[in-house]
Amino acid sequence: MANRSIVSISSYSHEKIQYLLDMACEMEAHPNRKILEGKVVATLFFEPSTRTRLSFETAANRLGARVIGFADPKATSSTKGETLKDTIKMVSNYADVIVMRHKLEGAALYASEMTDTPIINAGDGANLHPSQTMLDLYSIYKTQGTLENLNIYMVGDLKYGRTVHSLLMSLSSYNPTFHFIAPKELEMPQEYKTFCRQNGVKFIEQTDFTAETIADADIIYMTRVQRERFTDLMEYERVKDAYILRKSMLKDCRPNMKILHPLPRVNEIERDIDDSPHAYYFEQAGNGLFAREALICDVLGITLNDLRNDKTIIP
Ligand code: CP
Repeated sequence: MANRSIVSISSYSHEKIQYLLDMACEMEAHPNRKILEGKVVATLFFEPSTRTRLSFETAANRLGARVIGFADPKATSSTKGETLKDTIKMVSNYADVIVMRHKLEGAALYASEMTDTPIINAGDGANLHPSQTMLDLYSIYKTQGTLENLNIYMVGDLKYGRTVHSLLMSLSSYNPTFHFIAPKELEMPQEYKTFCRQNGVKFIEQTDFTAETIADADIIYMTRVQRERFTDLMEYERVKDAYILRKSMLKDCRPNMKILHPLPRVNEIERDIDDSPHAYYFEQAGNGLFAREALICDVLGITLNDLRNDKTIIP
């Protein structure tokens, strides 16, 4: 079987995205199964995580697989100088799937070239976070009924935010209109704007963030300013409170507008928004379970048809 690693989903066709959305939907209908009984999923987290690691591990457990791995690289032999290549080759002896988060951009691609065991990129530096994108797409699809022709507002740290980079690439072929709202220091990197220009993807860069400017949004995708990516903490202090979504700003919003956030949140969404019908970020995180169940099955060659005919479902 060809290596089915998921390093990026940016180049996936609409058919493949729809197929994975259908798989996630099937998982949501029946999240507990034994379809992965006998399989081992390794979660290697060289960077901190709450949602991604726990939802991948929950996904594996709910599908009957066993989980090995680490959440703290300080407790591994990487502190003794073991290379990523050696770690991956060694874990490949133990696991059927490797889910990996690493601080270096390109680490997941590199790992996927070191082994035939499928790698799922759980975030590589400021680069990409494809499983987050899959759950974001699933959340958008569930709430809007389509991925087509949407006004998508991306707000906050658009420079280091790998989730917005991944989402931009995946939505770009669905005729979106992107609005990029960020401080100058954290604006969307040039390469993504060039990609948009070259591919006829509409985008507007703006600095205003008011009830008026977000009135036509279908999705507002808020992001945290990521302290850990700054080398100059003074610069972090200057920009950290630049864009805060306040309840008063939602008064003119479209009824079905949803606020997404990959989480964790610091202060960029005021807490009194949590009870608003526009708030969807906790449900979004919940969708991560179904999207990640789908991705683990996909890399193992388990098809949508297999899921629909699955006799191991636990009612
Ligand atoms: N969204 C996300 O990646 O969250 P964690 O860093 O907690 O995994």
